[in-house]
Amino acid sequence: MKLSLSRRAQMTPASPIRKLYRYADAAKQKGIHVFHLNIGQPDIPTPREFFSMLKKYAKGVVPYAPSSGFPKVIEAWRTYYRHLGIRLSAQDISITTGGSEAIYFALLAVADPGDEIVVLEPVYTSYVIYAKMFGIKLVPVTLNIRDGFHLPSHKALVGAITPRTRAIVICNPSNPTGTVFTKREIDIVAGIAKERGLFIIADETYREIVFTKKKAISFLSLAKVRDNVVLVDSASKRFNMCGARIGCLVSRNKSIMASVLKFSQGRLSSPFLEQLAVMPLLRNSGQFTHHLIHEYRGRRDAVIRGLSGIPGVSAYSPEGAFYVIVGLPVKDADHFCQWMLQKFHYHEQTVMLAPAEGFYVTPGKGKNEVRIAYVLSAPKLSHAMMILRRALEVYIRAVH
Ligand SMILES: Cc1ncc(COP(=O)(O)O)c(C=O)c1O
Repeated sequence: MKLSLSRRAQMTPASPIRKLYRYADAAKQKGIHVFHLNIGQPDIPTPREFFSMLKKYAKGVVPYAPSSGFPKVIEAWRTYYRHLGIRLSAQDISITTGGSEAIYFALLAVADPGDEIVVLEPVYTSYVIYAKMFGIKLVPVTLNIRDGFHLPSHKALVGAITPRTRAIVICNPSNPTGTVFTKREIDIVAGIAKERGLFIIADETYREIVFTKKKAISFLSLAKVRDNVVLVDSASKRFNMCGARIGCLVSRNKSIMASVLKFSQGRLSSPFLEQLAVMPLLRNSGQFTHHLIHEYRGRRDAVIRGLSGIPGVSAYSPEGAFYVIVGLPVKDADHFCQWMLQKFHYHEQTVMLAPAEGFYVTPGKGKNEVRIAYVLSAPKLSHAMMILRRALEVYIRAVH
């Protein structure tokens, strides 16, 4: 008898961030250096304090941690939020295996198969992957590169809501656009959620990385949507420790937290040592995050400067995180990205970007766009933009 996979397995899309890796590996085999601007994996060192905590662990066994995290780790997250001016009780926080698991739990807690969730596209790809896995329909509200991917009208947002809508997902500062939503925009989303009885899944993974004078506003600071907010957070980017796999889910809604406890009991425990090792960073987060703004602003400027010299490219100046969506003068950015890895090099060097089509829910959107993650030093980024410019010149002559 022939074996057959679930429809879920067949329908789940591959990550647009990772799908071109085999071409990058093949390029590297040929001795070509690949500048990785496709994935949000920063090159900034993980704080020493993290490794000191790991080294200090002297017990002979690494056991499970409590399913929702060690009380002292939860306490450290409370301290972190208190420094942001957000008061939480220990019951409002559950430690997760990265922010990814917090997204996973949040979606599972608020929507059943066939339910709808409103997202702002271009959207962070894990929402798309998980929604497919769970049979949740994502209803996109399309944002526009010309507006720096800020919110459209109140009417456009409300127009996406149906009787099956359960939540709105908002990532602020945004991956993949780098947009930091204003107080007015945050209030609009909160107002709609309150009025329509919707959850807000607020992903604030990049909270500290904001280049404008005004900081990113946390949905946890809005009293009127206390019960609506399910917050996704992560230690990965602010402490440069993506592989430690520590994040948390925060909600003041007791039913949400009771459900999340059951989900986390199902997976037993988050990483034991890593959650302990994040504690000193959380207790004193400013010390470890204050340099990020300066560093990423310099990197953003290097990318935008580099892009501004390339004919036919459209971009804007992102206000936060470390991503920018860029319109290229090509018909099929996916093909161009693959071509850069397979057929092109400039003095044995090339660039890997993420084709942006996979960040859109609406079929056919984003075909000529890429996402650049500015996760290398500013000089390397300037060089990578020069390579991109040369690649476009050759590609347009050869293919178009
Ligand atoms: C917007 C956003 N949310 C959540 C995550 C998940 O982070 P992690 O699972 O590494 O904590 C990421 C990672 O890139 C992200 O960009």
